[in-house]
Amino acid sequence: AEHLLRSKTLKGKKALVSAGPTYEAIDPVRFIGNHSSGKMGFAIAEALYMQGAEVTLVTGPTHQQTAYAGIHVVPVVSAGDMYDACMAASPDAAVIVMTAAVADYRPVSVASNKIKKNAADWELKLTKNEDILLALGKQKKAGQFIAGFALETNNEREHALAKLQTKNADMIVLNSLNDEAAGFGVDTNQVTILHRSGEEKKIGLQSKKAVAEEIVSFIITHVHAKP
Ligand code: CTP
Ligand code: CA
Repeated sequence: AEHLLRSKTLKGKKALVSAGPTYEAIDPVRFIGNHSSGKMGFAIAEALYMQGAEVTLVTGPTHQQTAYAGIHVVPVVSAGDMYDACMAASPDAAVIVMTAAVADYRPVSVASNKIKKNAADWELKLTKNEDILLALGKQKKAGQFIAGFALETNNEREHALAKLQTKNADMIVLNSLNDEAAGFGVDTNQVTILHRSGEEKKIGLQSKKAVAEEIVSFIITHVHAKP
């Protein structure tokens, strides 16, 4: 019966959301990852779905589950897998929201057997992962609305504005880790939306679900707006 409660605001529009961390394998038992819980991404996917969008949610490893069977969940592990899944789903997406905490680097090679401890120190060689949001921004279609997130601990606004520009995004959601009630694991969040027009909107402390709903309503009011 979930479809009966959905609004028709985004009916017929496709949305692509990335969520969670990525895991970059070192060997069969180890990986490089991060503390992303996936909560914001799942909440945004659900808010878009409840506004009527056809949602593809590309998610790294998390404990999140969605109650909405209509959301197309694509589970991935590494940044490379997430890149491929997002590229595949992006061409006909009207709204793209990249919330994933994508690992910036991966090991140059993945050992096929468990790396054994030995007397010497171990140096792990890393190489940079593809930036998914940047790639999507470069090939942005007319009418496509692209949102990113920025998790910052210092010079927050400046860093977020740089990301807005460099990645050719329409908006960036600034998440400040200086705030105890915001960020990893917790159920609440407090963010600032920076739109490419210069408009800014502060979204006060509330549940991640409520923050997601506010982000989605901001997207809806800006999705048709010209630059
Ligand atoms: N992002 C992405 N692919 C990557 C890295 C980041 O799609 N390989 C996206 C994130 O999902 C987020 C935005 O880019 O929407 C900003 O991510 P963030 O980690 O804050 O910024 P980076 O550009 O990676 O820069 P840094 O980590 O150095 O701050
Ligand atoms: Ca990063």
